[in-house]
Amino acid sequence: MESASTASPASAQKPEIRTLALWMLGMATMVFVIVVIGGITRLTESGLSITEWKPITGAIPPLNEADWVAAFEKYKRIPEYTEINGPAGMTLAGFKTIYFWEWAHRLWARLIGYALLLPWLWFATCALLGKSGNGGLRGWLGGFRLPPGYLLRIFALGMLVALQATIGWWMVSSGLLVGTDVSHFRLATHLLVALLTMAGMLWTALDLFALTKNNNARPARLTGYSLAILSVLVIQLLLGAWVAGL
Ligand code: HEM
Repeated sequence: MESASTASPASAQKPEIRTLALWMLGMATMVFVIVVIGGITRLTESGLSITEWKPITGAIPPLNEADWVAAFEKYKRIPEYTEINGPAGMTLAGFKTIYFWEWAHRLWARLIGYALLLPWLWFATCALLGKSGNGGLRGWLGGFRLPPGYLLRIFALGMLVALQATIGWWMVSSGLLVGTDVSHFRLATHLLVALLTMAGMLWTALDLFALTKNNNARPARLTGYSLAILSVLVIQLLLGAWVAGL
């Protein structure tokens, strides 16, 4: 049996790597949940109810009647209200319902961002301090190091989440001035980037689980066959989003 002193760094960190894998699995689940909330947002036609993009303060919904009236007044300026919901007699209560789904969608998106960013910052700090010795803050942080390549890989996933949030607003803005719906091209982009992000997180989780079983496990690669299936799937998803968006 390997003694603690002769164990390789990877085998010494196996429980931690399993925790990392579970973190990534949790992230993929969070993205799955937002895909469902996004679908509800679409189906309840709630997507254009918040006419502003405030990444930080937007987490707080209107808290009193005056704020609600102000938010409703902003909504009343867009074609979806003047051409559809206004003539149909939408009330403030009806507006609050559609506002809820768009707000929940954006709030969950923020939580995804924090759930990825905060642990990543901790790992990045450990990696940085690791270069400058073992004592002090690094010892206090526990000195855990991500397996090689994963700091960058998880950073890339974070960038995808940030890109997705930006695409979210890019999509919303396409429905505020002209027409009564968001652009189906932007909607398709939003859907495909969501699925790409979820796939990337799941892939990373599975690669990490493989590392807990075998120290030398290498990240899985796409084969020609799986690439062919993926291409057909992407075309089908794209067409599906266009049909839904139109
Ligand atoms: C991690 C971040 C996000 C993910 C993974 C995500 C994912 C999704 C998905 C999968 C849909 C359903 C698309 C469809 O039915 O084809 C959706 C809908 C929507 N998302 Fe997001 N979203 C994110 C962040 C945001 C943000 C930050 C905004 C706004 C600033 C936003 C605005 C919307 C809107 C308005 C809809 C409904 C579109 C419609 O009315 O047709 N999303 N989202």
